[in-house]
Amino acid sequence: MDSHTAVNQRVWDELTPLHASSSHYDVKAFLQGESKLGDLEIEEVGEVAGKRLLHLMCHFGMDTLSWAQRGAQVTGVDFSSEAIGIARQLAEQVQTKAQFVCCDVLQAADYLDETFDIVFKSKGVMMWIQDLSAWADTCARLLKPGGVFYLLDYHPLANSVTQTEDGLKLHRSYFYSPEPTVVVADGSYAVPDAVLENKESREWTHTLGDIVTALIQAGIEIDFLHEFPAAEAYLMPIPQLDTGSARYDLPAMFSVRGVRR
Ligand SMILES: C[S@@+](CC[C@H](N)C(=O)[O-])C[C@H]1O[C@@H](n2cnc3c(N)ncnc32)[C@H](O)[C@@H]1O
Repeated sequence: MDSHTAVNQRVWDELTPLHASSSHYDVKAFLQGESKLGDLEIEEVGEVAGKRLLHLMCHFGMDTLSWAQRGAQVTGVDFSSEAIGIARQLAEQVQTKAQFVCCDVLQAADYLDETFDIVFKSKGVMMWIQDLSAWADTCARLLKPGGVFYLLDYHPLANSVTQTEDGLKLHRSYFYSPEPTVVVADGSYAVPDAVLENKESREWTHTLGDIVTALIQAGIEIDFLHEFPAAEAYLMPIPQLDTGSARYDLPAMFSVRGVRR
């Protein structure tokens, strides 16, 4: 594992137990039977019953287990041992069969000796990937021919702008640089007030064009690329410019689905 990934792993190991007890993630509701999947990904991924679904960067597994509860045979991968530990406990608690594997997403194909019908990733994932073509190759290698790739994530443009009282401000380039953006901050989207020991993380921006091109080059035929203003359920404010007489929205999320040739 490279040094950037190791820095991020420490952050996620610290954040994950805090997330698991946060109201944002509401584990209690999940244990009482609530699915953690949104209508959007349920509709766009399509039927999963009886299919082998690989959830990459699965956090502590609630979405993964929600797919299992819709009939998929699931495997979740995350590099945080804290996340994988909690995911396994939750699987036992809700008596749902699932396999969870702790490794860097780029090494997942070395840890798994099978291919899948569906590779799924969602919400807050692409910013942690440095090497886009290695990532796309890994996704393709883990799919059987005809298998479905699906990604739902925050739009790279929305990750580059901040909404201020004076309007939108760019805080990082929309375009990729191999040098990561170093973010030093307490808290997270789920636990904004948490004071962290590991405050530093490393992030990258990948344009939609780069993401789609990497997938095509890895052998995935694209079915669609959708851009959305945010749905409330995804907690992403819509970047917008309000001129007083008109309001202009930017995309907050995107999804891409494709099929392994
Ligand atoms: C924002 S969370 C994903 C949230 C998830 N979709 C959810 O709503 O629960 C990002 C996840 O990616 C994982 N992650 C980040 N970099 C990774 C890497 N290089 N390999 C594997 N997992 C990684 C983190 O441990 C974390 O669980």
